[in-house]
Amino acid sequence: MKKVLTGIKPTGYAHLGNYFGAIKPAIELSKNGEYECFYFIADYHALTTLKSKEDMKEYFYNIACTWLACGLDPDKVVFYKQSDIKEVFEINWILCNVTPKGLMNRAHAYKACVEFNEQNNLDKDANVNMGLYNYPILMAADILSFGTDLVPVGLDQKQHIEIARDIANAFNKKYENVFVMPDCIIQDNVSTLVGLDGRKMSKSYNNTIQLFTDEKELKKKINRIVTDSKLPGEPKDPNCTINKLYKLFVDKDKAQEFEQKLKEGLSWGEAKAMLFEVANDYIKPMREKFFYYMENKNLVDEILKQGAIKAQKQAIVYLQKIRKAIGVEN
Ligand code: TRP
Repeated sequence: MKKVLTGIKPTGYAHLGNYFGAIKPAIELSKNGEYECFYFIADYHALTTLKSKEDMKEYFYNIACTWLACGLDPDKVVFYKQSDIKEVFEINWILCNVTPKGLMNRAHAYKACVEFNEQNNLDKDANVNMGLYNYPILMAADILSFGTDLVPVGLDQKQHIEIARDIANAFNKKYENVFVMPDCIIQDNVSTLVGLDGRKMSKSYNNTIQLFTDEKELKKKINRIVTDSKLPGEPKDPNCTINKLYKLFVDKDKAQEFEQKLKEGLSWGEAKAMLFEVANDYIKPMREKFFYYMENKNLVDEILKQGAIKAQKQAIVYLQKIRKAIGVEN
């Protein structure tokens, strides 16, 4: 059975972009029994950005409970916390030794920091720690430790999968064919899901709609969506943010109906109220589950512990092969 693996790092509250772009498609993949799925919370990847222990705990449980509330079934998915799988970090170190430094210099996130520093007349590596620099190697370890075939990710993560392949290749060439070559599955709608201001929905643009806020906050956020100044009665552009978001929550017929109303001059106020209605109906049952898990964190801990045991069983097999291949174990 092909293995699918993906992770989300807990660096903020889950938003609609995370849900439609990553969580929902990943859960769908896990439902038809066609794949063996490994989904995890990349807490050690979050260390590069988190400011405190409190933030780690807050975002960790937010993401963990989000996965469960959105329908992840721990009997169908190996669901775990990255930091529980010690083997991954041993493999990470071994991979460091077949990773050319130049490959890391070309990684997008690091390059963006360097470019920012250069533009601001700072030292090239100002504010860059080794966690950020080595980030792609740990991600390669996440993927390669389980013999992953497919990695569903957003377009922004494509380079990381290519790097994982390069690293796997370097190891296989130097030693023996231990690692499986992973491929990515790019979710189209990830790159196009729009935020409040019409740009891509992203934490870094501060234009997200949190998945599990209360109704009031959801309504407030939707009311803040930027529109043009067309008056009630004037036709609205179907390419607007509100229409794009509305479509996510309804079937094709309903989407068409709404688009027709926009073209016929539905007011922005009414359009926003209708968007709130469908979004809230969609989210409500999941929101209830989310708060249930948030209030029963010991249940979540237990689920993750069981997941870690299953994940570890497989990672140990890989680690052993690797240790043999490099000559530290017979
Ligand atoms: N880097 C990914 C992100 O920022 C998270 C991640 C960590 C990941 N390890 C992974 C994704 C392994 C897929 C596979 O979203």
